[in-house]
Amino acid sequence: MPTINEILNTMDYGPAPESQKEAQAWLEQRSRKFGLFIDNAWSEPGETFASNNPADGSQLAELTQASAADVDRAVQAARAALPGWQALGGHGRARILYAIARLMQKHARLFAVLETLDNGKTIRETRDADLPLVARHFYYHAGWAQLLDEEFPAHRAVGVVGQIVPWNFPLLMLAWKIAPALAAGNTIVFKPAEFTPLSAMLFADICVQAGVPAGVVNIVTGDGRTGEAIVKHEGIDKLAFTGSTEVGRIIREATAGTGKKLSLELGGKSPFIVFEDADLDAAVEGLVDSIWFNQGQVCCAGSRLLVQESVEQRFLAKLKARMDNLRLGSPLDKSMDIGALVDPIQRQRIAGLVDSARAEGCEVYQPAGCEIPANGSWFPPTLITGASTSAAVAQAEIFGPVLVSMSFRTPAEAVQLANNTVYGLASCVWTENISLALDVAPAIKAGVVWINTANQFDAACGFGGYKESGYGREGGREGMYEYLVPTFEDARPAAPVLAVPGKAKAAPAAADPFAIDRTAKLYIGGKQARPDGAYSRAIHGADGKFLGEVGEGNRKDIRNAVEAAHKATGWTRATAHNRAQVLYYIAENLAARGEEFAARIAAQTGAKNAEKEVQASIERLFYWAAWADKYDGLAHQPPMHGITVALNEAIGVIGIVCPNENPLLGFISLVAPAIAVGNRVVAVPSEAYPLSATDLYQIFDTSDLPGGVVNIVTGSADELARTLAAHSDVDAVWRHDGSAAGCAEVEKLSAGSLKRTWTGGAKGRDWFSTQQAGGRIVLAHASQVKNIWIPYGV
Ligand code: NAI
Repeated sequence: MPTINEILNTMDYGPAPESQKEAQAWLEQRSRKFGLFIDNAWSEPGETFASNNPADGSQLAELTQASAADVDRAVQAARAALPGWQALGGHGRARILYAIARLMQKHARLFAVLETLDNGKTIRETRDADLPLVARHFYYHAGWAQLLDEEFPAHRAVGVVGQIVPWNFPLLMLAWKIAPALAAGNTIVFKPAEFTPLSAMLFADICVQAGVPAGVVNIVTGDGRTGEAIVKHEGIDKLAFTGSTEVGRIIREATAGTGKKLSLELGGKSPFIVFEDADLDAAVEGLVDSIWFNQGQVCCAGSRLLVQESVEQRFLAKLKARMDNLRLGSPLDKSMDIGALVDPIQRQRIAGLVDSARAEGCEVYQPAGCEIPANGSWFPPTLITGASTSAAVAQAEIFGPVLVSMSFRTPAEAVQLANNTVYGLASCVWTENISLALDVAPAIKAGVVWINTANQFDAACGFGGYKESGYGREGGREGMYEYLVPTFEDARPAAPVLAVPGKAKAAPAAADPFAIDRTAKLYIGGKQARPDGAYSRAIHGADGKFLGEVGEGNRKDIRNAVEAAHKATGWTRATAHNRAQVLYYIAENLAARGEEFAARIAAQTGAKNAEKEVQASIERLFYWAAWADKYDGLAHQPPMHGITVALNEAIGVIGIVCPNENPLLGFISLVAPAIAVGNRVVAVPSEAYPLSATDLYQIFDTSDLPGGVVNIVTGSADELARTLAAHSDVDAVWRHDGSAAGCAEVEKLSAGSLKRTWTGGAKGRDWFSTQQAGGRIVLAHASQVKNIWIPYGV
């Protein structure tokens, strides 16, 4: 008699195919040929390209390659639809979003099958993950539309938005883009990826059924050329892009100086950390969901396994056993774990990277029994061990079912390895010790941390990256801000009160070798430093009198300042209460020397009411001190047994080019919020009136501000901004000196390391107004949201 285990071992899955009849019938009904969906009408198909089924290579349909003229027509339709869509109001839009959600649920199976046919991902995933999340996204955002006026007062929609998505989650990315944009009152030109356009074509039908007015959602198909036409179109007010970091960079450069709002969700190389006390079996299952979900074609895939050395062998043995049981085959078979890759090109890329690992001597494990179907595009689940931290497979986004494993000894080493990447999208931490998990989570530079779980998503919890994984969030309240503009932006003065530096009427007094040197040095690492180039520039007052000299900072000075700022990590770790105390102390010390500062402002700018600026600066310091310990995060309750904690974290090192109008208030209005939330700053004071900032050195020294938190480099705003924007260790650059060309240059150079920017363009700002220079908008520029998922009871 065989034992029960022997019987179980001989059992195998039979085929469990999902029917594709309805999806094929829908394609037939559309003659397998699609035009563009513009103004709620289908154009005649033009030059076409094919969309194939990656599981067998068969052609599913032909789609139109939209030209720049087509994109222009779509933008015009979206522009024309904007007033009507906004006039509908929040409730009117909520009803339509709700109708879309209902229809998505009603046609969920058709969508799921069509998506599986077009993309190659398993029906289990499209049916159980993609579609429920898509519907949830529309429901959730129907809610934001309803609450818009109440929860986002003094905001308006951005306008016409261009949205470009990749092929890995075609419909889910569509929902992530379209739902918030519609809720906020924008109209849309949307482009699906050329490999996977079909679910977007079906979605167009849903829009019509749900009563979306003509021109509100326009869908254009095509490859990167169509994407480029959207990016470059002058009628687009905002771009939302998900895709490769490479294209993200191109888009950042192309939009520099245009004033287009931009959000980028880019690549990742996310760590999956397993501590020795983790539930190893659960962690193996988590890893399956993390790296083999969607064949690993997931931007936040846990593609770097970091496992504690003491359990490494045991864990890898369990993992290999589990890999042996993964089933790869027809994506429409309900019992398959792994489907087809989107395209043979993708397969070649992955195979090339795995071959390079073999050539470097890494061990490559692939289950022996994994049969690869004869047709289509497939890759077996793969585990690579023995790679160095700098190997291509350890650094590049493979975007396939390939896991690279490494070990660590201590939590500190785990964090260091986790952060050893240019990306920062997501991460997983597995341990039964909640204290350890919550200690490690904030130290990981990534937008999402999943504790004892993986690849969880919800419309209420923002998703997005740190570092070269991009910026902006999708989902949650923060995701709505991406599609809104504060109305005070429209009220900003048309031109900055540009400072024309006082012209010298008289040369500096004849050199007196014993006169006190009035050259203000630079301020780096809490010390006054001579400029590297040993040059200084004369500053003259509004009346032409010589007031003093300031150091002429150069690239080397900026590099030193950035280094000093990086060292001042204690400030980021300090409590918000402590940071607030320092800001209050600075205010107190400034108040004690108020008259002197007022006199200095008056001498430089000729202002008649300089005391007012000093008083406003003191109040602004109180204002940001007040905020420092009140900018709390949120605790979301997504549909799981657990919570998601959204933390507002500092960005890191911010370069700030300060405005010329109000040299003291402008400086404080930007530097204070940045440091209030824990950033360290390299500030370039007003080029014309720098002495108000250099006078602050003694105040900082006597206010317990740790060295390196605020560094000040005087000199040419253009040159210093350029160096900051190109510096790979600067995390964000703000430029507010009214130079349109300078702001454009900062945005362009920021593409190199995809640092965040906040630029004022050619407009001015009323620095006295907390509406224009305060509030959560400024705090949002100074911080980034990290969502930490903590399931419980599991
Ligand atoms: P991609 O970034 O080229 O394509 C994404 C979208 O951008 C598509 O809709 C494409 O048509 C569009 N696009 C391409 N060039 C454009 C341009 N110059 N201007 C505007 N839009 C443009 O990604 P691709 O080529 O499909 O995949 C290449 C690699 O990128 C993958 O192997 C993977 O490593 C990575 N990738 C990462 C994704 C993520 O979510 N992190 C998603 C897709 C790809």
